[in-house]
Amino acid sequence: MESTQVFSLNTAVGRREFLKRTGLVLTAATLSGTLAEILASCNSPTAANITHGTTTVSIASLNSDGQFLVDTSVTPDGTPILVIRQNATTYTALSMMCTHQGCQVNPPSGGTIYCSCHGSRFDLHGNVLSGPAPSPLTNYGVSLNAAAKTITVTY
Ligand code: FES
Repeated sequence: MESTQVFSLNTAVGRREFLKRTGLVLTAATLSGTLAEILASCNSPTAANITHGTTTVSIASLNSDGQFLVDTSVTPDGTPILVIRQNATTYTALSMMCTHQGCQVNPPSGGTIYCSCHGSRFDLHGNVLSGPAPSPLTNYGVSLNAAAKTITVTY
């Protein structure tokens, strides 16, 4: 009757074993719940529901350096794609999801991309100028078709 001995409360050994095992079970359950809470709080906004693919964007309206457009045809991470002309042959495509807590940043103004949620500022390449954002905006891949005046954005 081995199982009877393990969970029996009729002997000193049985009680000790029962309390020890109950304690282990309760500790494991508590740690499991705590771990689940910790993992849930660590969700990065940039990791949530990201889709992948490509989209072609006309850049015909971007005639001078620093001009930008907001492409809403796809929203890979729930925000539009911000396309910025760096120069005639270089374009940047950025996620508009702030890397702090996931708010959508504003389009550029005065050479700066601003997040109105907590005040983070980014340059036109998506680099952090001031926090609390911990990292640059997601920079998507860009391939230029100069003849067609389009870029293909890989997200
Ligand atoms: S979400 Fe952008 S600064 Fe907090």
